[in-house]
Parts: sequence; C-alpha cells; structure tokens
Amino acid sequence: MQIFTPEEKERLPVHVAIIMDGNGRWARSHGKPRLFGHRNGVENVRSVVNTAREVGVPFMTLYAFSQENQNRPMDEKSGLMRLLEEFLKRELKTMQKDGIRLRAIGDLDGLPRFAKKIVEDSIEKTKDNDQWNLTLALNYGSRQEILQAVKACSQNQNQNHENLEWDDFAQYLETKDLPDPDLIIRTSGEFRLSNFLLVQAAYAEIFVSPLHWPDFGRKAFLDALRDFTKRERRYGKTSEQLTSF
Ligand code: FPP
Repeated sequence: MQIFTPEEKERLPVHVAIIMDGNGRWARSHGKPRLFGHRNGVENVRSVVNTAREVGVPFMTLYAFSQENQNRPMDEKSGLMRLLEEFLKRELKTMQKDGIRLRAIGDLDGLPRFAKKIVEDSIEKTKDNDQWNLTLALNYGSRQEILQAVKACSQNQNQNHENLEWDDFAQYLETKDLPDPDLIIRTSGEFRLSNFLLVQAAYAEIFVSPLHWPDFGRKAFLDALRDFTKRERRYGKTSEQLTSF
C-alpha cells in the first residue's frame, strides 16, 4: 500500500529538523533512569531516519545535544556521549552502504575528546556520500552560531558589508550547505524552539507532538509529514496570490 499519494509526495518537506524532547519524562513514566530514556531515544532515531529515507525526505537535522545541556549532571552528559559513540560506531557501515552523509553543527570543541573524534571521523568518512543527509546538532546553540557568523562576516575584508544580502550572510552560518528546514518537529508537547535553528526556521512549519521522543515512531512521524503536506506556506503572500496564475 502506498504511504503517500503522488500529490502528497510532491508536497513533502525537503528538510525536517527535530527537537527530540521527553526522553527523561518517558523514562520516569516507565520507572527507569533518564539514560534508559535516552537509549530508547536513540533506537527511535533509527526508526525515524529509516522512515524519512523510505518516503523520500532527503535532509534531516536532529537536536542531539544543546549548549544548555552542558548544565546537566555529569553522569547524564557522559552517558549521552557514550550513546552517541555507540550510535556512530554501529551506523557507520550502514551510512557507507546507503550513501548517507553525516554533518554536525555546534561547537565540537566542547565535547569530550573521544566523542569529538568519532564525530569528526564519521563526517570525514561519509563526506562523499550523496544519497541522504543527516546532520547532528551537538553542543549547538543558535545564538552562539549567529554571533560567530557576525564576527566572521565583519572580519572578512573581501565582503562588501554595505550591500550585504541575507544569502551572503547565510554563508557564514554552520548550516551553509543545508537548505532551510521546511518542517520543525518538537516532541513532548512543548511549544518552544529552545535556541535551535532560530534564523533558519524563518519560514519553517512547526509541528508539536504530545508524545515523548521514544514514542514518536514511524506512525507519528508519517502523520506529521502528512499534516505538513496540507499546510499552506504563504511566505507573507495571501492565499489568493498563491492560487492565481
Ligand atoms: C531531550 O530529552 C533529549 C535530549 C537532551 C537528548 C537527545 C538525545 C538522544 C535522543 C540521544 C543521542 C542522539 C543520537 C543521534 C545518537 P530530555 O532529557 O530533555 O527529556 P525531559 O525533558 O523529559 O527531561
């Protein structure tokens, strides 16, 4: 049975970015420690990534660790880094076989050395893959990214600052190689962007699910995509302007 009609397929997002919230609450509701929630969260990453590939959504960005997450207890932070290492070790073969290119945004210098190394190695090993695109936001903060971009742009003597256009400035952002997200999904019922892709989200549609991330599986993801296909993206125009030729 086909998942999407040809018309719906035409309207699928190119880039989906996800704020994977609620691992801790999910763990608590199962009477388990927080890391149990994160571990199940990683399992769900596999399921959602596979679904995106199956239906033809070519770019996905996952908010795996924010700069603010640095304030969490040490054992949770190191547990998350071990999960990241495990994930990348396990998935490298698949990424190579299926042509998945890994990218990262965020300050990798703020990660433990072993985590930084495996992220950088995986990025390097997959850099020629061109079938699908996974970006992990790691020690990422949008305000920090913007500030860095402003500094780099203002220091570039070759840049004509007087006539600076948005597209010129966007080249200084860490997302310069990525299309802007069309759809941002947040799980766990919170209506916030939490310092994630603030300027890239200018025209993104936002979908908030009440489910905690480990429960936001294939079906919930497909429902979010279907909802997106029904949205009218006006980019400041009126509905009439969009339908008139
Ligand atoms: C939010 O849940 C989730 C995180 C802070 C981390 C997300 C990380 C993963 C799913 C694992 C690592 C990812 C990859 C790609 C290997 P929370 O802890 O804030 O939940 P709570 O708000 O219910 O406490």
